[in-house]
Amino acid sequence: MGNYRIAVLPGDGIGQEVTAGAVEVLKAVGVRFGHEFTFEYGWIGGAAIDEAGTPLPEETLRLCRESDAVLLGAVGGPKWDGNPPHLRPEKGLLAIRKQLDLYANLRPVVCYDCLASASPLKPDLVQGVDFVIVRELTGGIYFGQPSGRVVENGEEKAVDTLLYKKEEIERIVRMAFTLARGRKKKVTSVDKANVLSSSRLWREVAEEVAEQFPDVELEHMLVDNAAMQLIRAPKQFDVIVTENMFGDILSDEASMLSGSLGMLPSASLSASGPSLYEPVHGSAPDIAGMNKANPIAAILSAAMMLRLSFGLTAEAEAVEHAVRQALDQGLRTADLAPSGGRIVSTNEMVEEIKTAVLDYT
Ligand code: NAI
Ligand code: MG
Repeated sequence: MGNYRIAVLPGDGIGQEVTAGAVEVLKAVGVRFGHEFTFEYGWIGGAAIDEAGTPLPEETLRLCRESDAVLLGAVGGPKWDGNPPHLRPEKGLLAIRKQLDLYANLRPVVCYDCLASASPLKPDLVQGVDFVIVRELTGGIYFGQPSGRVVENGEEKAVDTLLYKKEEIERIVRMAFTLARGRKKKVTSVDKANVLSSSRLWREVAEEVAEQFPDVELEHMLVDNAAMQLIRAPKQFDVIVTENMFGDILSDEASMLSGSLGMLPSASLSASGPSLYEPVHGSAPDIAGMNKANPIAAILSAAMMLRLSFGLTAEAEAVEHAVRQALDQGLRTADLAPSGGRIVSTNEMVEEIKTAVLDYT
């Protein structure tokens, strides 16, 4: 029996609905396994701009730092699209990643058998897909300096810098190898070493780290080839590790292998404090408030929290099992409609998964 403090930041749009669903499921885990979860709520994104005049208020950060883990929904929406850059909801996301030192973004991509026909790709190509993308999250071209626009001798220019320190590469690659050890023991390190200096360093460091994991296979793949291989033969992958922007692009591409954005969870692990868990999708303004959103990405994010932050493996398995069971029974939120089954609301899906967790043996 454990006590765990969870900071809940629902954010905007369907972030509110799917986070509420994940909290319901965590409460069911608490009842079933005898744990005490405390949920404390904070503002982030557009909701925070409206309430506190900034996308990531100081009190939200304090709440996160005092917690054992953070559960986030999604941020953004048309209401704030016209705001100046420092008052954009997405600023809150970049800031919380940097402030909490969330250097490793883990995105599992799993295709459930019964959803294979929901993917735009051929069912036999995606059935059995099960890999994790490990994306470096606090370095690379999204953070490198100099960055910005300049006018020099009357000529307009803009610059971004792809910069990595050796230790930044080392810790993310080590994370990938550690994960692979508990899986199919294969790491694909994705870079652009034929062109970029930062990628040549990345490759060298990956080789060095690999020496400490002789039981895990390492392969290197150029990012353009990786983009192609993800569609050609996605089952070849186990753990993919890569730079921030490459990971951003490849993980969105990979999301289509699982049938719907609404199925994809993520974990952002901290080097120094609480880690953060959130669905990959955004705030989906087109369906917000309609009780239509798929809560599974948020619920599976909560399962990742149980496993990675709290070490509660059986509890995480109970949640994953409950999700699989609900899908096997034919329940589908609207985004999963192409795979057949019975269309249900967000609340009905949550209710079913919750019941399955309570009944889990
Ligand atoms: P989105 O992920 O919100 O939606 C893309 C499409 O997928 C929409 O048609 C939406 O209805 C659908 N969808 C997404 N999640 C779903 C779910 N759980 N169940 C059913 N359908 C779902 O991306 P979009 O439309 O590009 O962005 C909308 C807003 O979200 C923007 O303000 C954007 O900046 C923000 N955003 C926030 C993210 C985050 O908080 N991590 C990530 C991506 C976008
Ligand atoms: Mg993205």
